[in-house]
Amino acid sequence: MIRRAIPVGIGHYLPDRIVPNSHFEALVDTTDEWIRTRSGIERRHFAADGQTTSDLAVRAARAALENAGISVDDLDGIIVATSTPDLTFPSVGTMVQAELGMTRGFAFDVQAVCAGFIYALCNANAMIVSGHAERLMIIGAETFSRIMDWTDRSTCVLFGDGAGAMILEAGDGAGTSQDRGILSTDLNSDGRYRDMLYVDGGVSTTGTAGKLRMQGNPLFRQAVDKLTSTAEAALSKTGIAPGDVDWIVPHQANIRIIQGTAKKMGVPMERVIQTVQDHGNTSAASIPLALSVGAADGRIKQGDLILSEAIGGGLAWGAVVLRW
Ligand code: UT7
Repeated sequence: MIRRAIPVGIGHYLPDRIVPNSHFEALVDTTDEWIRTRSGIERRHFAADGQTTSDLAVRAARAALENAGISVDDLDGIIVATSTPDLTFPSVGTMVQAELGMTRGFAFDVQAVCAGFIYALCNANAMIVSGHAERLMIIGAETFSRIMDWTDRSTCVLFGDGAGAMILEAGDGAGTSQDRGILSTDLNSDGRYRDMLYVDGGVSTTGTAGKLRMQGNPLFRQAVDKLTSTAEAALSKTGIAPGDVDWIVPHQANIRIIQGTAKKMGVPMERVIQTVQDHGNTSAASIPLALSVGAADGRIKQGDLILSEAIGGGLAWGAVVLRW
């Protein structure tokens, strides 16, 4: 018997305001057609004025607790993946903890941009498998609308706001790939690529929050290769072939990256959960949002084998293989 970190609850929250591509036609020199064909995005949600990342995270957290049928007192800790915190500190995690009325355990944030949820899952898995925690909530929550340059057509059309939350619980496994729970993880980063995707402000530089800057095309070319190799590395640790995966639940940055990665792995698009058309790129929130949508509509079922992969600023990238 070995200890596994098993998903027991999932939930998400999207702000009410839905912004179609046509909104940007009046803002910058772009078209609905360009955005759809180059990125696959049709609409995205933007947080209301005054609505913060922790507000979205709390809504997703409550949905996940309800889905798991547990109370906040059953949690040992909260890990929030975000690059758009309410404040420089304290962490969004502790804000969520307070808002949920959780007065024990711990909370902290993980910052690995679009790969943040994968990094947070890997941390949570290590804490559960090592016996440090029994039950953890992992949240991806972002308000990227707050760091958009609304005059930059190459970025402002791509991102959205939202939050997703997952609860992992310690359970026994036989140590085989048939076990439920997280089966393997693979993390990577290479700081030499920092100029490919970054925010041009910060505490110790400008003293401002800054705006997102991206070299989209070079990043696109890095993405398919690095996502395929991290996915294959994670799968090989479990002895599972790509063809045995029930669902790829990828980071949702661009439909062409999602298609390119699935094709390289030989997995048909019918087995890929796609939300990029409805959510845009929600950075660390995109994978838990997609997992939650796929579970809620009945596609993802208990026992399904899931591969998630993500890449983002850093560059930082990674993959998780888990059985639902
Ligand atoms: O989540 C983190 C990871 N993020 C990513 O991995 C994103 C990676 N990159 C991408 O998704 C794609 O590179 C983009 C969607 C950002 C762009 O697609 P692309 O096929 O790489 O286009 P491109 O950057 O090569 O640009 C093609 C043309 C350029 O015009 P010229 O130089 O050929 O005249 C751009 O100026 O499209 C132009 N363009 C636009 N045109 C209309 C750029 N943005 C827009 C726009 N509307 N919004």
